[in-house]
Amino acid sequence: DAAGADPFEIAKEAAAQIAERSGIERHDVALTLGSGWAKAADLLGETVAEIPAGDIVGFSKPAVVGHVGTLRSVALPSGKHALVIGARTHYYENHGVRRVVHSVRTAAATGASVMVLTNGAGGIKPTWKPGQPVLISDHLNLTADSPIEGANFVDLTDLYSARLRAVAREVDPTLDDGVYVQFRGPHYETPAEVQMAKTLGGHIVGMSTALEAIAARQAGMEVLGFSLITNLAAGIQETPLSHAEVLEAGREAEGRISGLLAKIVGTL
Ligand code: 6GU
Repeated sequence: DAAGADPFEIAKEAAAQIAERSGIERHDVALTLGSGWAKAADLLGETVAEIPAGDIVGFSKPAVVGHVGTLRSVALPSGKHALVIGARTHYYENHGVRRVVHSVRTAAATGASVMVLTNGAGGIKPTWKPGQPVLISDHLNLTADSPIEGANFVDLTDLYSARLRAVAREVDPTLDDGVYVQFRGPHYETPAEVQMAKTLGGHIVGMSTALEAIAARQAGMEVLGFSLITNLAAGIQETPLSHAEVLEAGREAEGRISGLLAKIVGTL
């Protein structure tokens, strides 16, 4: 719907619906929970409202097994409010980049000044283990697309906030970090493409997050990004990749990494 309604107006409308359904006029922080991170929603605080994503304008029911499909308003122990987005539209679903970043723009419209983006992804560093969470330090956007329309030259220096990464490291000093590479998907990369990503300076391969981070920055939010390494990338690990393996790694790591995430968000 490139010629359709203004995406920022739709996001405002979605934010108004969330305010009405939750009774919370303003959210301070928003989190998108990807594969393996869903339990964080329960650990953050008291759920005020849980809304099926399909009830809110611009959102759709989840297309992929392992994704939750709800929006939650959570009262944090600090007194702040978190919007927890368990419904992600992936670029590979072919609904266009506006739909991919609608949740981020909605989060901004609810008042959130911090956007926490999480995902399950493949690791390029051979020392990484499946089930390990890593901080995203920067990204390579290999989708050849952008959520920004028109001559709008947004600065992406320090896109993944150094301040917030330092906060995360105070909570867990063992956290490693890396450059996230967003491919279009939905196929996993060939071993040659993984080598390309590595040569380009990448450490993590996935199918989300970068476009969302750009939209968050455009909206003036601070971005914090985490990947759960669910497997090593093609050619780095010997065995073939499977969505089942990704889900299994997520299930096993879920409690631990969600607890970590809740702790970090608690200190923001
Ligand atoms: Cl190896 N690649 C991509 N693009 N996404 C993934 C993955 C790999 N493993 C989990 N998600």
